[in-house]
Amino acid sequence: MKTSIHDIKILDIPIVKERRGNLAVIEKEVIPFEIKRVYYLFDVPSKSKRGGHAHKALSQFLIALSGSFDVVLKDGEDVVVETLNDPSKGLLILPGIWRELENFSSGAVCLVVASDVYFEADYIRDFITFKKWKSTS
Ligand code: TYD
Repeated sequence: MKTSIHDIKILDIPIVKERRGNLAVIEKEVIPFEIKRVYYLFDVPSKSKRGGHAHKALSQFLIALSGSFDVVLKDGEDVVVETLNDPSKGLLILPGIWRELENFSSGAVCLVVASDVYFEADYIRDFITFKKWKSTS
């Protein structure tokens, strides 16, 4: 799998700004995949780590709806850390990228928009296996 951390993008989410408040819309023009599933992480203890895996085929778009958290991204060679703290921006993670979510602030909510339904066989949950898979697939 040829994807690298350089393929990771922070995308702007269109916002309808009004004095009554802001409204953010994620439509097919915003993200480069068809949305099949949406889930969210909330009430995450500050010392807790989520993720710790890669996906073989799934693409995801992560948004800090509230609060903040760090996403550590690895492609087997390089590492980058993106802090998400703005509900008008989202992090696009293509398949074949290892991710770890940490440093959740109090009240943080991580919305995940995904390109497919939940499928455990799409996960690689061991980093050594991930590195081997990156170099051979
Ligand atoms: P996991 O994807 O490992 O969570 P995270 O990346 O946030 O640490 O999933 C945690 C558990 O939840 C695991 O047992 C699988 C289950 N799960 C579902 O049943 N459906 C889903 O859509 C997701 C994302 C997870």
